[in-house]
Amino acid sequence: MMNDNVVMRFSAKPVTYHFNGSLSQLAEVTDQQRTVIVTDRHLMTAHAVSFEGWKTIVLEPGEEHKVQSTVDDIIRRLIEWQVDRSFTLVGVGGGVVTDITGYAASVYMRGLRFGFVPSSLLAMVDASIGGKNGIDVGPYKNMVGVIRQPSFLLYDFDLLETLPETEWSNGFAEIIKHACIKDLTAFRLLERHDLETLRRNPDTLRSLIRRNALLKSRVVRRDEFEKGERRLLNFGHTLGHALETSYVLSHGQAVALGMIAACKISEAQTGFKDTAKVTKVLSQYGLPVQGSFDPDRIMSVLRMDKKRVSQSMNYILLERIGRGLVQYIPLDALEAKIRALSSTGPSLDPIDA
Ligand code: GLY
Repeated sequence: MMNDNVVMRFSAKPVTYHFNGSLSQLAEVTDQQRTVIVTDRHLMTAHAVSFEGWKTIVLEPGEEHKVQSTVDDIIRRLIEWQVDRSFTLVGVGGGVVTDITGYAASVYMRGLRFGFVPSSLLAMVDASIGGKNGIDVGPYKNMVGVIRQPSFLLYDFDLLETLPETEWSNGFAEIIKHACIKDLTAFRLLERHDLETLRRNPDTLRSLIRRNALLKSRVVRRDEFEKGERRLLNFGHTLGHALETSYVLSHGQAVALGMIAACKISEAQTGFKDTAKVTKVLSQYGLPVQGSFDPDRIMSVLRMDKKRVSQSMNYILLERIGRGLVQYIPLDALEAKIRALSSTGPSLDPIDA
């Protein structure tokens, strides 16, 4: 039996977090006969036994598959299996799988119940939480989507045992982000450790994951439709997303560079003094802290960012570690700052070079 369950109430429904769960206990939270699992080929290969007896749709892994044609394939399969509104869709995987599953579940027959078993560190602390589920359109990440909460999140920490090396830093980028905007205590813990020591300390790691999942959930619960506080979760992501779509960078690497840029912009805007501490922590978790890019290319992506409002951008800055804030920055002023920051360190590798 799972014995660390937390219920959080969001606007439309409660979400149950089963923190001490296991994929093999999925039948305790959803009716096996009326559930369709969506996962990817890597997970299916690594945990084939856990999927036995479940209707399962297996996706090709990778962000490039987070597109409408994958959703169409899922929907065709649901129609073929005569899935009706009494069914639940469960996404077992990382952020790509959970996003697509939540989106497909939200639009199929105008909405099925859905839940997630996040398998990556990033999905456990961030991607599976918050209800934003969507797909990419060309270079524009998450351009189409919904905000709809899952009914449950089942945490199986053993899934991290097969997490690829590079995925660890991706997850830590979001953990560091949460610490920067909201959680000085966690930032201090992150300063005392590094990637290797935390991986060797499963108890500390699990409690850090739990703390981050609940931190994000509380922020989202207070501002589910992103009118205010929830925007803080975009710290590092404005420039980060633009870099990620233009250069060969993982999500965490791009967000790390975005956080450094936001710290530097904060120095001028808010008097923030701890860029060096943030830089050091990012390095401790295997993340890059400098890279040169083409400011014209990046500005053309930023102009399409969802956080742009007319000629200004909602930019997330830090007042101090543990306290983020949102400021409107006029696009012209932002462009000047981005240009000034665009030539630090070795050149990033462009995607279509
Ligand atoms: N699914 C990620 C979020 O809602 O922020």
